[in-house]
Amino acid sequence: MQKELAPAYLKELKVYQAGKPIDEVARERGLTKISKLASNENPLGPSPYAIREMTRGLWDLHRYPDMHAYQLKSKLAEIYNLKLENIILGNGSEGIMAYIARAFLQPGDEVLTCENTFIGFYILARSVGAKLQKVPLTEDYRFDVKALAQNISEQTKVIYIANPNNPTGTYITKSEFDYLMEHVPSHVLVILDEAYFEFAVQQEDYPDSMDYRYDNVLTLRTFSKAYGLSGVRVGYGFGHEDLISYLTKVKLPFEPNLVGQLGAVGALEDQPHLERTIKNNTKRYNELIAYLEEKNFQPIKSITNFVTIKTGSAEASDYLFDKLLDQGVIIRPLKANEMNEYIRISIGTKEEMKHFYEAMDAVLPEYDKKFGRA
Ligand SMILES: Cc1ncc(COP(=O)(O)O)c(C=O)c1O
Repeated sequence: MQKELAPAYLKELKVYQAGKPIDEVARERGLTKISKLASNENPLGPSPYAIREMTRGLWDLHRYPDMHAYQLKSKLAEIYNLKLENIILGNGSEGIMAYIARAFLQPGDEVLTCENTFIGFYILARSVGAKLQKVPLTEDYRFDVKALAQNISEQTKVIYIANPNNPTGTYITKSEFDYLMEHVPSHVLVILDEAYFEFAVQQEDYPDSMDYRYDNVLTLRTFSKAYGLSGVRVGYGFGHEDLISYLTKVKLPFEPNLVGQLGAVGALEDQPHLERTIKNNTKRYNELIAYLEEKNFQPIKSITNFVTIKTGSAEASDYLFDKLLDQGVIIRPLKANEMNEYIRISIGTKEEMKHFYEAMDAVLPEYDKKFGRA
């Protein structure tokens, strides 16, 4: 019965795999001290301003949220000098990707992107029957703008770029973005997923999409990463009002929820928390790179809050993941991203990173022997 109900393209679709939850690891392995370095979250937690606003909102939970999210949109409009009509909000940036799929993609439409990027988008595009055309990343693990430009066809409807990319942490530069836009016809929609924007914008040649004005570019950002609000699911998108009006038509009216809207407003008011977050990230990133290089890994240079390394085989990745779990450290194997031979480590607090280094020190002697690195 279910088989007949679902369209053919849903039958092959795999369910998204998230990072392993802390409670699950605690239960399975009988551990109490756990460091989750698996989902690129903010290890410092939410801003106290966000907590204050969300707590206040708890007394109003018998009410529906403001479906126009006036307060949050106004705040974003003020910061980015936009009109409310240029802003869409959703349950995380992934929620907005779902609106994009619903509004603009039909079975058979072609979506052009790269291999080894954010799987959530692949799943959403496939869930409405769109066809993914994926070109390989460059040798240095970056979106290949030349290959993308060469592969634009009559059928291309949407181009998806994660900048910076997850899971590689790499980015396309300003000149590469210019090159790409010179080759994209104006009827093709370009999604610029900037989930790690707040970390990336420190780079001089990083193209902040808000410095450009293209009617066919949609910017996606989130409160889940640098703002530390993954749990309440708030994402935002900026674009031409025509694009936004279509997304608004397919949007569920009360997303994001009441608590999320309030938390996001609080987070935007707490610049010092964001600065602390970036500062911790930069310091821990440098330490992590130094540690990994000392242990003879070659980390992919990242401008985000995570680092990916090559283990060399699927077996080595699984081994490291499993043995680190025994030590209470959750990292991310990248099988679902078709990067079996790699693992990803999110940057944590000083204490969490110490836990990671101690766990690695405990695991590496056997690992090195087993995988011929000794
Ligand atoms: C590149 C990228 N885009 C989007 C998301 C989804 O974020 P959100 O929590 O806003 O849905 C993630 C989360 O890992 C991501 O890495």
